Amino acid sequence: MEASPALSRIGLAGLAVMGQNLALNIAEKGFPISVYNRTTSKVDETVDRAHNEGNLPLFGQYNPRDFVLSIQRPRSVIILVKAGLPVDQTIAALSDHLEPGDAIIDGGNEWYENTERRIAQASERGILYLGMGVSGGEDGARHGPSLMPGGSFQAYSNVEDILKKVAAQVDDGPCVTYIGEGGSGNFVKMVHNGIEYGDMQLISEAYDVLKHVGGLSNSELAAIFSEWNRGELESFLIEISADIFKVKDEHGDGELVDKILDKTGMKGTGKWTVQQAAELSIAAPTIAASLDCRYLSGLKEERESAAEVLKEAGMTDIVGSVRSGIDKKKLIEDVRQALYASKICSYAQGMNLLRAKSLEKGWNLNLGELARIWKGGCIIRAVFLDRIKKAYQRNPNLASLLVDPEFAREMVQRQAAWRRVVGLAISAGISTPGMCASLAYFDTYRRARLPANLVQAQRDLFGAHTYERVDRQGSYHTEWTKLARNADAGVGIFN
Ligand code: 6PG
Repeated sequence: MEASPALSRIGLAGLAVMGQNLALNIAEKGFPISVYNRTTSKVDETVDRAHNEGNLPLFGQYNPRDFVLSIQRPRSVIILVKAGLPVDQTIAALSDHLEPGDAIIDGGNEWYENTERRIAQASERGILYLGMGVSGGEDGARHGPSLMPGGSFQAYSNVEDILKKVAAQVDDGPCVTYIGEGGSGNFVKMVHNGIEYGDMQLISEAYDVLKHVGGLSNSELAAIFSEWNRGELESFLIEISADIFKVKDEHGDGELVDKILDKTGMKGTGKWTVQQAAELSIAAPTIAASLDCRYLSGLKEERESAAEVLKEAGMTDIVGSVRSGIDKKKLIEDVRQALYASKICSYAQGMNLLRAKSLEKGWNLNLGELARIWKGGCIIRAVFLDRIKKAYQRNPNLASLLVDPEFAREMVQRQAAWRRVVGLAISAGISTPGMCASLAYFDTYRRARLPANLVQAQRDLFGAHTYERVDRQGSYHTEWTKLARNADAGVGIFN
């Protein structure tokens, strides 16, 4: 569109894939938008796209001053650049032209403390600030992402109408809500990504077991995943996996998925999630297992030589022996149930991490509402998020998803299948760290008594750390070694 003398309702700086698509989405919803990028060819590219995709009200600007001044006051400027230093640089370039009451909205995968620092810096100049998680990749940004804005409530109110229109729409509203103060929007997006890591790991394990123990071909896997996507596992990640299995390799025989190097990349949000879980003393073993697996997958050459060394040491192909006599149909159904149960444990971990952080920071996060805005637009969107929403609506103080009566029943119903899959995978030597971590989490959480009594006794023996008793109040210390020697000196155990 030709530059208009009328001012734009909003601005967006940073026109890489996400920025371009979000800007086009905003323009398409009828909000005139100014766009800016340091490399100006990106501005032209976005303006061309706006023209070709329906003459959308999108206006290219070629320097920070013109960009800022082309926006109605109080101004709202979304920035979508790489997290970290580029965000600071973009803020610095725009700040000279912004005025008190204007707002900056960072839509990147930013570390929440950076957002909190920037909120403080911006407020010194009367500038409002939002850190907004944006999920859904390229397609989500263009047609409806899930948005997680946190920070200044005033800044949110100024753009609420826009965000509600551009976000993905589901049966119970747009996939956006004001998350809370400070860096809460970024934190929630970070945990979303941690859960995303867990989901992807669990799906890859289901694939591994079905392929190597069940002997399923890619076309069978595509059919099974499509079928799963019509039931309780219905989700974006299951759907795209079904599609992935169908794609032929254009450079050779078979399907492309088999030609992809087995090394997973990452940008950091999953690692932050695990670090935060440790900081807050929240067990998140499924998410941690998914992170560890990415690290181990990265050691491709080392794994190849380990395979050689262990083969020479006598390691044989143990899959073969387990594979014979497998009831394929039963295995598929068992894996489906194991995947579902493992997934619930992973979400329970993510939700508990969010609650712990919310308590620490006073963010007052509404877990049911977070599950709701993840129902559409984002990478972890799934039908069962509606049930998670309802679980927290039934009881906002739910200690864990695992003790919600509905989820508890489902876990119990699925545990036999889950144990069979994990047991089978262990005997076949197919590692399923995510499913094992989820199952161990479940078994640890549901047991009223754990062997932690022995750990406490050991700590007291070597460090006088004291222990509590099950049958009386107080903290105790025992001279374990002395008493044990005395006992030895008395009656011998074996005589
Ligand atoms: C999303 C995704 C998106 C991106 C992650 C993946 O919600 O749209 O999570 O943010 O895919 O950065 O992170 P890794 O590169 O670490 O897998």
